[in-house]
Amino acid sequence: MRKLFVMTVMLCANALMLQAQQLTLRLDKADTEVSPMLYGLMTEEINYSYEGGLYTQLVPNPAFADMFNPRGGRRGGRPDPNAPRPTVRPDRWQLTDTVRVRVRQNRQAGINDANPTSLVVNFEQAGLGIVSEGYWGFPIRKSTTFKGAIYVKQPAAFNNESAAPTPVSSLTIALKSADGNTTYAETKVSGFSKDWKKFDIQLTTSATQADTKDARLFIIADQAGSIELTRVTLYAPSFKDRKNGLRIDLMEMMAEMRPKFLRFPGGNYLEGNNFANRFDWKQTIGDPDERPGHQSPWGYRSTDGLGLLEFLQWAVDVGGEPVVGVFAGYVLSGDHLDGDYVKPFIQDALDEIEYIIGDAQTTKWGAVRARDGHPEPFPLHYVEIGNEDFFDRSGSYPNRFKMFYEAIKARYPQLQIISTVGYNALKSKAIPNPVVDLIDEHYYRNAFDMYRNAFQYDSYDRTGPKIFCGEWATREGSPTTNMNAALGDAAWMTCMERNSDICVMSCYAPLFVNVEPGAMQWASDLIGYDVLNAYGSPSYWAQVMFSQYLGDRIVPVEATDLPKQTLDRNDEANAVFYTATKDAKTGKTYLKLVNAVGTAQQLNIKLEGVGKVKSKAKKVELKSARPEDTNSIDNPRNIVPQESTQKVGKQFAITLAPYSITALVIE
Ligand code: AHR
Repeated sequence: MRKLFVMTVMLCANALMLQAQQLTLRLDKADTEVSPMLYGLMTEEINYSYEGGLYTQLVPNPAFADMFNPRGGRRGGRPDPNAPRPTVRPDRWQLTDTVRVRVRQNRQAGINDANPTSLVVNFEQAGLGIVSEGYWGFPIRKSTTFKGAIYVKQPAAFNNESAAPTPVSSLTIALKSADGNTTYAETKVSGFSKDWKKFDIQLTTSATQADTKDARLFIIADQAGSIELTRVTLYAPSFKDRKNGLRIDLMEMMAEMRPKFLRFPGGNYLEGNNFANRFDWKQTIGDPDERPGHQSPWGYRSTDGLGLLEFLQWAVDVGGEPVVGVFAGYVLSGDHLDGDYVKPFIQDALDEIEYIIGDAQTTKWGAVRARDGHPEPFPLHYVEIGNEDFFDRSGSYPNRFKMFYEAIKARYPQLQIISTVGYNALKSKAIPNPVVDLIDEHYYRNAFDMYRNAFQYDSYDRTGPKIFCGEWATREGSPTTNMNAALGDAAWMTCMERNSDICVMSCYAPLFVNVEPGAMQWASDLIGYDVLNAYGSPSYWAQVMFSQYLGDRIVPVEATDLPKQTLDRNDEANAVFYTATKDAKTGKTYLKLVNAVGTAQQLNIKLEGVGKVKSKAKKVELKSARPEDTNSIDNPRNIVPQESTQKVGKQFAITLAPYSITALVIE
């Protein structure tokens, strides 16, 4: 009798489960492929992403190009109106004594055309020096070797001087605390002559050295006298020990995101504020000592030490492939070139592609790449023409795009070409039926707008061009985004993943922010750091979860009675968002669920079209008590994914924690 009662209750419960808040996973209909390129990375020089971030060269303004230019470069493009202007002094050099050390910038006699400036320094006595601030310090750790170089010469007579000044005969180069009282590592250089000579330096910290960013690079005169310097560089150890390489912790964090590609070099950084400051890739290759650098649109100078080859190496070192944006004749000031005038840029783009994939023996630019140390071509399938050309009010993009498209396809028919404006905007009288492989869409939204649009791609035209969501973010939290943003991001990722037959590629922006005062131009970024440490925002962890728990087939999901939430303006959206994929080989199902509200949600999950289901599934959760909770440089792991198990079967119930993102791996 009791058994019958229990069975009746169970049947009723099952019947209830079948009705309310249910997701039915149609594993029997999981035929559509998940795009193999779905999750990638986007990058640009903003917020001190490379200089003062990923790039391991630690000395700002190494060739004194910014000396005596206290106002620095101007910001331009389409700046974030809420972001502070960069407040850092661009010269970044100090004197140990502003009376007894005198400096003069020499613009006549640099080491080469790319680096025409140098610094003449007069020291009234031994022990005085000039000091590099670094990018808010230097990363001092135990047993670390920093390698670098300095160009030195004895200065010539200046203007009316009858004789050259007495030269200093040796210099001490040291990493010390800002007050100069503690020395972490030091070396000496000597043997100067009237001509420029490059001195390699190596600074090694002791095995007992504690971590600190309270450090400066001192160049100290061992005697009274004068000396001329330029290209002072110091490199921290790099990921995979690459020469002129990239920061280890940041590369590891990106690799954890399992990116399929890296979109570079921007963003606004591709276009530049004006033609002179576009990303001119030919100026970014070869010996870093021979790269002139340029002004980034975000208010500071780039040395271009992180140039084209370094971008390519970065893409493959984190496990992806490059997606290169080529300069397309339009700059942020609104100037553009069209018709015959754009042809040199088309040639530059063809040369750039040849540098990336050309054969080292038989092509000019492939041979240059080999000269630069990389004989093997890089993988390349996608090329983007410009950036955000929907801002080009002249209407020149359709024609510019067509010219680039035809020239690139003629030489490289295998490449997929990305337009930065939508199909309808491309359509013009001149180009009634534009041919375009992918459209790059950008979405910067708040969390509510992400929820509102979390089914946007479900109804996209499947016969049109594919979508590359090349910049997107939920912009809540600063400098890095908070849990509310991660919830918006996750809702948006469910949309892209469920529809990855049409939205084949996506990447978040911006990727990086140096969190030191004055370093940020764009609030709401994915990964924050100072010179010593780095951390991921909740949005970062949401992306790690989405890309790590991903199958290769889209599982159609039927949703019944999902809970709603009220948004602002009395608008309504789902409170719960979902996506499911399956691995065709292993049979594992990955179900991702987002609960965007502050109350727990009960869901019934039904698996259609499966045989046996293991009773325990791996459960990974990212959650927080308050949506504004976040991670920071001082509290880097406040919100990180937590693993547990979930009881599952062909039909099971799950409780989603308030403000949570859940990934289930069902076997
Ligand atoms: O990612 C920040 C900026 O946003 C990019 O430089 C630009 O493409 C977009 O407007």
